[in-house]
Amino acid sequence: MLQLVVLISGTGSNLRALLEASEDAEFPARVVAIGADREADGLALGEEFGIPTFTVPFTAYPDREAWGDVLVEQVRHWQPDLVVLSGLMRLVPKAVVDAFSPFLINTHPAHLPEFPGPHGVRDALAAGVTETGASLIVVDDSVDGGPIIAQERVPVLPGDTESTLHERIKPVERRLLIQAVLDIANSHLDLKELSRR
Ligand code: GRF
Repeated sequence: MLQLVVLISGTGSNLRALLEASEDAEFPARVVAIGADREADGLALGEEFGIPTFTVPFTAYPDREAWGDVLVEQVRHWQPDLVVLSGLMRLVPKAVVDAFSPFLINTHPAHLPEFPGPHGVRDALAAGVTETGASLIVVDDSVDGGPIIAQERVPVLPGDTESTLHERIKPVERRLLIQAVLDIANSHLDLKELSRR
């Protein structure tokens, strides 16, 4: 049974999809803890699904490195096989990457390497592209430049707002995430090998 710690900053809709998948006894992974860098709405999912949560408030630390060191401690406590960044709106410092990568993956609402960074949806809209995408990557020391695990194109439709486009992307992210967790749990995907390529 793959043990997951999921880190969020927002509503946690992608996390909800993982939690719902985990309700199936056949699903070979379990979310053992939910962490956040702020009082994220998605922490309420811990209550709903009976899963421990923790918060390491970014603003409570003098700098990113100090925050990252505490985050590593908190995540390590759960002895995860895989750490999933699912809407964590922070660049994690080197200590976090060193502690967990390549068993540290991130969902991104764009077709990387297109539109990296915190506003991938907004940037795609601003660029006027007719299609963007969803990507799942291994987190390394770069900004969204790690090895791509899976990605899929998503159309941009006339009249799209950041919100309508993002809501069209998220279900694709969830599907890629759940499939990747399945593949990792079933040894169909080797993150170490992927990261060596
Ligand atoms: C997702 O699109 C994720 O890729 C991005 O932020 C969004 C989080 O959405 N980093 P939610 O909190 O899972 O609803």
